[in-house]
Amino acid sequence: MSAAAGGTADFFYREAQRLGYVARSAFKLVQIQKQYKLITPGSAVLDLGCAPGAWLQVACQSLGPLKTGGVVVGVDLKKKGFSVVLSDMCPLVSGITTRDSALSMELGMRALDLALGGSKLPDVPLEDGQTEKQLNKEDDVGILKPGGHLIVKLLESEDTKDLIKICKPLFRKSSWLRPKATRSNSREIYLICQGLN
Ligand SMILES: C[S@@+](CC[C@H](N)C(=O)[O-])C[C@H]1O[C@@H](n2cnc3c(N)ncnc32)[C@H](O)[C@@H]1O
Repeated sequence: MSAAAGGTADFFYREAQRLGYVARSAFKLVQIQKQYKLITPGSAVLDLGCAPGAWLQVACQSLGPLKTGGVVVGVDLKKKGFSVVLSDMCPLVSGITTRDSALSMELGMRALDLALGGSKLPDVPLEDGQTEKQLNKEDDVGILKPGGHLIVKLLESEDTKDLIKICKPLFRKSSWLRPKATRSNSREIYLICQGLN
């Protein structure tokens, strides 16, 4: 909320500016926290209707030091883009190489779909001759902001090459990385996509 939208800049608005909160609503949760201390170090918090994100800021601050863990997740009707999307998702490995690779590809595609939206991904042919994109919304734009980055873990197979083919024209740079911490007997590999066009 801007000062103009709310009339003159009041005390809480100015305090929010000074402390770096995105909205004066931060102080509502600050007060609730002060009185009730509901969010404790290590809490898992879900913030419904989180935009523009002031309660998210306060909730994160209430989690305490990193070593105690905790997580804050927010949802809102208003789309808020992400600068970075990380997917370290991996299926429960069965040892059947083709099965594990296929499941890993499916998870990778889910991450891509969420980050980029259906409108940027290739059309999937359907049985009735239509394509999934024709049925789907052209304005399905995904959660990754322009200029944003994407990291996706995959189990390497012939098919993983298809994923980088999809990403190459969409990002400034797309490449593979096999981190040094990856076990030598693992087929995991990371697709690193930099700078969404
Ligand atoms: C008062 S604002 C929340 C402010 C937020 N707590 C903060 O401190 O930044 C209310 C939010 O509720 C969201 N909202 C309303 N209906 C919703 C719905 N059905 N699902 C998700 N978010 C919704 C609105 O988009 C709006 O961003």
